Amino acid sequence: MPSIKVAILGFGTVGEGVYRILQEKRDEIKKSTGFTVEVEIILVKDKNKKRMPIKGIQITDNFQDILNNPEIDIVFEAIVGEEPAYTYLSDTIEKGCHIITANKKMFAEHGPALMKHAEFRNVQIGYEATVAGGVPIIRTVTNLLSGDQVKRIQGILNGTSNFILTKMRKEGSSFKEALFEAQRKGFAEADPSDDVSGMDAFRKLMILSSLAFGEQPDWDEVPVVGIDHLPSNEITDAAKEDYRYRHVADIWLDEKGEPQGTVGPALIGANHPFFNIDGVDNAVIVETEYLGSLTVVGPGAGMYPTGSAMIADLIHIIRQQEAVLIPN
Ligand code: HSE
Repeated sequence: MPSIKVAILGFGTVGEGVYRILQEKRDEIKKSTGFTVEVEIILVKDKNKKRMPIKGIQITDNFQDILNNPEIDIVFEAIVGEEPAYTYLSDTIEKGCHIITANKKMFAEHGPALMKHAEFRNVQIGYEATVAGGVPIIRTVTNLLSGDQVKRIQGILNGTSNFILTKMRKEGSSFKEALFEAQRKGFAEADPSDDVSGMDAFRKLMILSSLAFGEQPDWDEVPVVGIDHLPSNEITDAAKEDYRYRHVADIWLDEKGEPQGTVGPALIGANHPFFNIDGVDNAVIVETEYLGSLTVVGPGAGMYPTGSAMIADLIHIIRQQEAVLIPN
């Protein structure tokens, strides 16, 4: 049976999600692609850390073990932060492997350069998991772009912020309690200030801007406000008036055709598509010239939703590359 060998860089919540789905859905993946997908090697920061038992797979803390392994076809990257992730992925592309990343911080900044590099080396990049967790927004926008023009994208793009706002409104939780719960559930970033300051949503918005408009606005021109300074009584008072606070990231083309964006808390009325988006869910409204408006909704964070977005990328890449991949 032909097999495809993959490496996983980073074994936190997302890396573990990818690993688990690959084990649990081995047969289904084989059925839908014709290939057995084998995890060959996992890169971790600390080899001695206590983690789920993994049998028969090399665990390394040295990226060169992956780079020098001629068997690897595809590399999953679920590391936190720009570096060393960017360098690792550049090297991986140079070697001729496809990459699938969930790293929004790295991809917002370096995505355009990586895409160019990948095109040059004739490999593919999957980055569905960088925006809105399990919601297939990258695929949706990509499909829309083939016959239409995107005018505006508005999204609840940070699951942790939405989870916190929901708990504060519905259960009267404090900001701290709700954040702690989001961390416990594995939704929040290692440094949760990225979630609650709006920076995580901002980076996701920049990734969408590159995709939809082929460029990003000047980062300094985009006002970014988080939910960290929103008084709890404002959240509950708004609810009494049938309004809800949502953390909304918005990007559109101005009259000169240049992208403009804003990120911050917004009061949402009962008729708006964001009104009922509770908990860790994300929602994205895409406005286009011909379609009008489309909203996609789903879990924006978590091990399985984010892992499943990376597996969807994997299957897409395998199907696209079937003729090129040489079975081991
Ligand atoms: N911390 C992020 C969030 C994870 O809460 O949305 C998914 O990108």
